[in-house]
Amino acid sequence: MKLQNQLHSEPFSDKTGCKVLNPEQISIFDLDQQEIITLFKSYGALLFRGFDSDVEIFLQFSNSLSTEFIDYSNGYFNRRVINNNPTLLSVNDLKDEIKLHGEMYYLPNHPPLLWFFCATPPVESGETIICDGRKIFSNLSDETKNLFTQKKLKYVNHLEKEAWQERYKTDDLKLVKDACAKNQRLVKLNEDESIDILYICPAIYETGEQKELTFIGSLLPAKSLHPDIISFDDGSEINEQIISEIDGVTEEITTEIAWKTGDILMIDNNRVMHGRRKITDDNRDIYIRLCSPAFPF
Ligand SMILES: [Fe+2]
Repeated sequence: MKLQNQLHSEPFSDKTGCKVLNPEQISIFDLDQQEIITLFKSYGALLFRGFDSDVEIFLQFSNSLSTEFIDYSNGYFNRRVINNNPTLLSVNDLKDEIKLHGEMYYLPNHPPLLWFFCATPPVESGETIICDGRKIFSNLSDETKNLFTQKKLKYVNHLEKEAWQERYKTDDLKLVKDACAKNQRLVKLNEDESIDILYICPAIYETGEQKELTFIGSLLPAKSLHPDIISFDDGSEINEQIISEIDGVTEEITTEIAWKTGDILMIDNNRVMHGRRKITDDNRDIYIRLCSPAFPF
């Protein structure tokens, strides 16, 4: 019987996540899956570095630990499908910094597990960042903790009459309401026949076996890209003081990943947020897969 190899793990100091290194130059498929799962549950993010890998190996390795891969239907950004595989996607096509977020938290069903693969690393900048939402929550002030546990977030998408009729290809508001209800969105009709599409969701979730309070979602990029669309669910403002407190707390415990060719990153999307520093190198090519763990979680 072939003996499984022990994982060589190295935490990112006291920040988020853990590296799995390959000093003995083994195949990534010879790693003990149970050890991977135990380490993943403990750290919430694993970076596999130094293994012989390409896109095909990335697909096989992620397949071996995952299930229910999804495409990017209803996703917010533009992504390219890679190798005609709708479950293998480029990261978004923007160059700007993307602040920390949970993937697809603007939808009620977000994928619990994310995989990233580095096809071509940038020569400089463009680091992916990861940050543990449990640590974020526990490091917030009591006042901010109370605010986020008592109030939810409200996203409002305002569409003029022509815009919603064009988008939904109908002038029947009932059909628009039915379509929005599928993603738990409410539609409010205004006097001028424009509409507001409302999505209300928590900023704090309970995650893991201990049901630990976890700060995760789309608040930070939404606030930085479209500050007018987001508020607390009672309509009150999420002010700059709150955002700068979160920015300060996250920067202390954020891990920056300077990609190397063939790196594979596994992220618990229920617990660990990810983002990206500004891109200055057009050659940066990172792929993503969205799925669920194929192990009890
Ligand atoms: Fe993302």
